[in-house]
Amino acid sequence: MSHVLAAVAWPYANGPRHIGHVSGFGVPADVFSRYMRMAGHDVLMVSGTDEHGTPIQVQADKEGVTPRELADRYNRVIVQDLHGLGLSYDLFTRTTTGNHYAVVQELFEGLYRNGYIVPKTTMGAISPSTGRTLPDRYIEGTCPICGYDSARGDQCDNCGNQLDPDQLINPRSKINGETPRFVETEHFFLDLPAFAQALGKWLAGREGWRPNVLRFSRNLLDDLQPRAITRDLEWGVPIPIEGWRERPDKRIYVWFDAVIGYLSASIEWARRSGDPEAWRRWWSAGAEGSEARGYYFMGKDNIVFHSVIWPALLLGYDGEGDRGGEPGQLGLLNLPTEVVSSEFLTMEGRKFSSSRQVVIYVRDFLERYDADALRYFIAVAGPESQDTDFTWAEFLRRNNDELVAGWGNLVNRSVSMAAKNFGAVPPVGAAGLTVEDDALLAVARGGFPAVGDLIARHRQKQAIGEAMRVVAEANKYLSEQAPWKLKEDRERMGTVLHVALQVVKDANTLLTPFLPHSAQKVHELLGGTGVHAPMPRIVEVEDLDTDGSYPILTGDYAQGTRWESVPLVPGTPLAPPKPVFRKLEPSIVDEELARLGG
Ligand code: MF3
Ligand code: ZN
Repeated sequence: MSHVLAAVAWPYANGPRHIGHVSGFGVPADVFSRYMRMAGHDVLMVSGTDEHGTPIQVQADKEGVTPRELADRYNRVIVQDLHGLGLSYDLFTRTTTGNHYAVVQELFEGLYRNGYIVPKTTMGAISPSTGRTLPDRYIEGTCPICGYDSARGDQCDNCGNQLDPDQLINPRSKINGETPRFVETEHFFLDLPAFAQALGKWLAGREGWRPNVLRFSRNLLDDLQPRAITRDLEWGVPIPIEGWRERPDKRIYVWFDAVIGYLSASIEWARRSGDPEAWRRWWSAGAEGSEARGYYFMGKDNIVFHSVIWPALLLGYDGEGDRGGEPGQLGLLNLPTEVVSSEFLTMEGRKFSSSRQVVIYVRDFLERYDADALRYFIAVAGPESQDTDFTWAEFLRRNNDELVAGWGNLVNRSVSMAAKNFGAVPPVGAAGLTVEDDALLAVARGGFPAVGDLIARHRQKQAIGEAMRVVAEANKYLSEQAPWKLKEDRERMGTVLHVALQVVKDANTLLTPFLPHSAQKVHELLGGTGVHAPMPRIVEVEDLDTDGSYPILTGDYAQGTRWESVPLVPGTPLAPPKPVFRKLEPSIVDEELARLGG
């Protein structure tokens, strides 16, 4: 057993989540965490809403509310979205808590004390027509590195490099097209070059990462520049330095505070658990926490923040960059074990776009379809290691032909035949098991190490493929053994159904990380009681340090089933089953396409 941190990217609280947002990291992180818990690890899965910075400010301006009102609104909406998908966060919180502010400021101060944060005068962009500062991402121009003509002031989406707005060639405002005016302004910079060596050493020791993620991360080290980590903005965490703390116009950069959320959420979880030091088991380098591993889940546009910025912050706080230093009061903190980045999901061949209505919101999806139907699609056809496309036709096909006709049908016919003919789980007959019986049982048992290992190595597509192979073998077995033709040989019929039900039980365990809602139902169809696949719950809590309350996602996940084959008990009563999955009408494709704009 070991301590496993599942750190899931923090969604901006600037709108409801769409299925693209959850397919790259929310759902895969949940599959991973559920499996790791079932395999006996001590998992801490944390995240929250990302509520600072220009993405929030800009949307608040659009909706005519304050950033705080906007964040309050969408924090609640997003908590509902993630709850509906059954994502098993130990804590899903937010970045506007007193606890988060304190932890962010502690890291800032530690880095500052160790000499890795330095003030510098730079050029900031101002809108000539309004006189207000123009957020980086609202400036567009030509990338000085690759020549891409729609690079943003914070980042070039073509070559992935981080930029400062004054580096852009021909900069223009995305809001009104005017050319920004650049004026002198003072900011704090993170001395990234001072971490080049330490980061290089850390990355050289990484194994098993998706090759494209590792390659991309290593390339980023070739050109490390000091990076501004404060902004001219009123909305954000105050800068904890003498002379800056009280300034209303300067705040910590949203990405600096957001990545620290993984740590602050772990601390908040520990404080709420009654053992305020418990977070150290996942974070503290050294004797006690040394076996701890941390896996970070995100989309590919976030790689730089997780394989460069966040490790640099940790190294600096630990005092392990070129300038040395001492660890702060939180002690030595662990760097990530793996950055698990996915690619993008497109939508009927196009990029998701809320403004053009090329979007499927999670809540709309869940109003019409089951969470596990989406989770299944994401597992078999999601953007794990290449961009993939969501189409309604493909969703329909996967749901009807694979989930319903494959897995649902196996469950349904096994349980209903046994219920009808025996009213209970039949025993293996006196004649014992045939070669075919043994072979199928062995396939199912073999699924545990195979599927588990693939999930642990973030090969979820292959993993669910292996689990569904067990299902296919079982369907083949039933067709061949044809228990419905064995009315004359009740004992053999019982044996066949016993074997089939045992394999249903095993396959259900193998599918539990992917399909937790239906796994609970199948568990009950097999006569099981109690919690098989634990679900998160929404709890309204008080802020631990300041006024206000907010909803969190949390849960008691230790009670779920284990990753092992458990023998069925003959004689367990069985009732005629209700279908676990819903077959969808082909007409949904046209209905859904009509809903899409653009
Ligand atoms: N809010 C960011 C986005 O949607 C992700 C932040 S992940 C973080 O791109 F944890 F690092 F903050
Ligand atoms: Zn570029």
